This record gives sequence, C-alpha cells and structure tokens, in this order.
Amino acid sequence: MKVILTYGTFDLFHVGHVRLLERLASLGDKLIVGLSSDEFNKSKGKSSFFSYEERAEILAACKYVDLVIPEREWEQKESDINKYNVDIFAMGDDWKGHFDSLSSLCQVVYLPRTKSISTSEIKTLIADLKKNDLNKVQKSLNDAIEIIKKLNYSE
Ligand code: CTP
Repeated sequence: MKVILTYGTFDLFHVGHVRLLERLASLGDKLIVGLSSDEFNKSKGKSSFFSYEERAEILAACKYVDLVIPEREWEQKESDINKYNVDIFAMGDDWKGHFDSLSSLCQVVYLPRTKSISTSEIKTLIADLKKNDLNKVQKSLNDAIEIIKKLNYSE
C-alpha cells in the first residue's frame, strides 16, 4: 500500500485541482489531502470563499481522494507523515524546494501546475465583472424565474 500526502486550500475547486489530484492518486494506492483549516488560512492572511466543512465535502466527493484531514499548522507535516505511513509527500511545483527537508522521512515530489487557472485568478475575474454585467445576469435569472413560475402555473 503506497500512501501519498498533499496539502492545500482547494477553494473554488477547479480543473487545476482535479488534474493535480488525478496525478497524485496515480502515484500510489491511497491519497490523503491535508486541507487548510479556516483558522490556518487566517494565520497566513488568506480567506477562502467556501468554509473548511464545504471544501472538505467537495474534496471527499472527488474520486481521487481517499481521506481528508485538517491542516492546522505548518509543523504538522512530519507527524502526519509518520502517523499515516506516508510514502510520497507531493505538492504542485509552486512549492518547489519548500519541503525538501521532509525527504529524510519519505519521497518528496513537486508536480507541474496546470497553466492559466488558479483560485486567486477566478476571484479576481469575478470581482472585475462590471456592475452592468451583473445586472444582465440578474435580469436573465429573473427572466428564468418568471418562465419557471409560468411553467409551474400552467401544469
Ligand atoms: N494547483 C495546480 N494547478 C493549478 C492550481 C493549483 O496543480 N492551476 C495545485 C497547487 O500547486 C497545490 C494544489 O493545487 O498543490 C492546491 O492549490 P491551492 O493553492 O489550493 O489552489 P490555487 O488555485 O493555486 O489557489 P490560489 O490561487 O489561492 O493559490
């Protein structure tokens, strides 16, 4: 049984996350994700759109993920590696070199990131949507609601 361990926030779950998890799962038999808790994110000056519980539920529903555990502090990696008998510690290559010291405990690998997508980019894009665009979306939603109401009444 080959165990792989990775960490991250995995907010606004996107295709870059899926592709990373797929490649991580293919390295062995059991993939464990250490998911950054809301408190840990706060201590890093980050905040996620989805709560820890929501992000954990989404990750657990992903077929590549076998177990989700909370990441509460930087220092827990060594004890997690020992506790879960981890064979491979793996991260996206935006973390290249950061965790090389763990190689005394298990194999450490960095996988290439999927290009042109990230949670921060999605957040920026959404924030940049002009009010006009939001109004158009709102109008379309209202139209759709009216249509659904009419369909329900006519049934
Ligand atoms: N990841 C990836 N390819 C992407 C985005 C993320 O392989 N395009 C990987 C990261 O390298 C990391 C894991 O997914 O190992 C979780 O990354 P996370 O920081 O939660 O996602 P990002 O989209 O990078 O979020 P942010 O922009 O907030 O850093």
